[in-house]
Amino acid sequence: MTRMNGQWRLAQRPVGMVKESDFELIEEPVRELVDGELLVRNLYLAFEPAMRGWLDDVKSYIPPVQIGEVMRASTVGQIVESKNAEFEAGQLVSGMLGWQQYVLTDGTPGPFGGLSKVPDGIPPQRMLSALGGTGLTAYFGMTEIHPVVAGDNVLVSGAAGATGSVAAQIARIKGAGKVVGIAGGPEKCAWLVSDAKLDAAIDYKNENVGRRIREEFPKGVDLYFDNVGGEILDSVFLGMAERGRITMCGGISAYNEKELPPGPRNLMQTVIKRLSIRGFILFDHLAEAGQAIANLSEWTESGELIVEEDIQEGFENTPKTFLRLFEGKNLGKQLIKIADVE
Ligand SMILES: NC(=O)c1ccc[n+]([C@@H]2O[C@H](COP(=O)([O-])OP(=O)(O)OC[C@H]3O[C@@H](n4cnc5c(N)ncnc54)[C@H](OP(=O)(O)O)[C@@H]3O)[C@@H](O)[C@H]2O)c1
Repeated sequence: MTRMNGQWRLAQRPVGMVKESDFELIEEPVRELVDGELLVRNLYLAFEPAMRGWLDDVKSYIPPVQIGEVMRASTVGQIVESKNAEFEAGQLVSGMLGWQQYVLTDGTPGPFGGLSKVPDGIPPQRMLSALGGTGLTAYFGMTEIHPVVAGDNVLVSGAAGATGSVAAQIARIKGAGKVVGIAGGPEKCAWLVSDAKLDAAIDYKNENVGRRIREEFPKGVDLYFDNVGGEILDSVFLGMAERGRITMCGGISAYNEKELPPGPRNLMQTVIKRLSIRGFILFDHLAEAGQAIANLSEWTESGELIVEEDIQEGFENTPKTFLRLFEGKNLGKQLIKIADVE
């Protein structure tokens, strides 16, 4: 029986807000395996705001996705056939396997890494959430870029998302004095306090962010983990404590802008308050991923770190699910399930 492989490919470069029609669904038969190859069937696809940046034809930390190319994305899949001695049929693996149903590979790492075997006993989708790119980003941001110091007053934006929710909880686990999250809407804010066990949450869609930061942190914010940039970052500058640290993880508020807005009005606060701002990219830290995953696993198993996954269904809904990130519809890690484990 010939298997058909559905692939979502980039049809055109988005202008402004990314649209479903920027991608097209192509089906093609999967050819027979030759010696040394294996066939992976994707089970879950992961979505990250950074993928929006990969669609623009600009120089960045990785090359753009080309028009006609399968959309690049992290996935978890199951090996359904193997003619490669290193991989067995049935094994679950994760890697940058893209928005497609099947992947034929010889297992050699490509420019974005190779296949990692999913350890036994771990729900496979966890390799894309707390134990995957976003969990690791939160981990390195909070432990290496500007490590949380016990007693720190910590503020995290994008706090109900995949990276932010883990970063804020790591701050709590590492002994921060107070941890406050910024997120959009009352449901997300309620979840941050009741489930993620933060001290408070600020609803940037319905509250005055600057005023709430001053109320929550009368002595100022020692550590700000920024996922959104824009107006929120500008407000935070005014609420920082002297010698405060800002970890720049992302700036989703501008990812779909046709023209970038002017820079923050309150940047001089970095001088007045002697602030340190440091950006980072996860890829530079992957050599230490093993220890990070061990710590993250320990915290999830002990229940100190709760993991939220927003799992949509159906391969046909892939681009629509990507858009959820920019509509603020996801709570925790945005994933889509496209097949069951066999
Ligand atoms: N530096 C790195 O290596 C690295 C690695 C991974 C991720 N990141 C960055 O981390 C950030 C979070 O990524 P993620 O994968 O964890 O996504 P996520 O936070 O799970 O999802 C995106 C969230 O961003 C918020 N958002 C959307 N538009 C916004 C806007 N205009 N203003 C403010 N918030 C907005 C939405 O939440 P609300 O409902 O709260 O608005 C949405 O749920 C992104 O900036 C991403 O680029 C960086």
